[in-house]
Amino acid sequence: MFRLAVLASGRGSNLQAIINKLHLSKNNIKISCVISNKKMAIALEIAKNYEIPFYLIDENRYNNDEYEEMLIKTINSHDIDLIVLAGYLKILSAKFVNTFKDSIINIHPSLLPAFPGLDAQKQAINYGVKISGCTVHYVNKKVDTGPIIKQKAVKVEDKDDEASLSKKILKYEHQLLPEAIELIAQGKIKLNKDRTVTIKE
Ligand code: GAR
Repeated sequence: MFRLAVLASGRGSNLQAIINKLHLSKNNIKISCVISNKKMAIALEIAKNYEIPFYLIDENRYNNDEYEEMLIKTINSHDIDLIVLAGYLKILSAKFVNTFKDSIINIHPSLLPAFPGLDAQKQAINYGVKISGCTVHYVNKKVDTGPIIKQKAVKVEDKDDEASLSKKILKYEHQLLPEAIELIAQGKIKLNKDRTVTIKE
């Protein structure tokens, strides 16, 4: 069994995509736990509905060290193979990243290295790019700079605004993230020393 911990801060549509495409299908990939830093995260409700163990570690109740200590403990109690950041909007420390070296991936709503950080779709609209998209990458010590596993491009039309572009990109996020997880679970992703990623299809 290949066990996932999914970290999510909000709506949880990427979590739902992982549930639909991987957790509920006949393969050896299962979500072992869902963890959120936000009390109101719908992702926790989704986990509950599917009887997936879920945890709220409320970021407002702990300092960052305490928060991450609890996060590490929770993840370690589930014998996890891969940590998936699916709309997880909190920066992880170098200590945390080192603890789970090369075992954390993130989905980001732009073609990295363009538009890292928050509001990537708004940044893309404001910049006036003609193409944007989404990226699945390994998480390293700096925000949104880790080795790129997969990307999908989306055309930006003149009539697009932040909302319509976000919607278009999200549709592809829901494909790209489960695809990347499946490739990793199948041992088809090789992270090279020069930080490139090779996919053995
Ligand atoms: C997604 O668009 C995801 O790419 C983005 O947050 C949204 C979460 O949606 N993540 C980031 O911006 C990370 N920097 P969801 O909660 O419905 O999956």
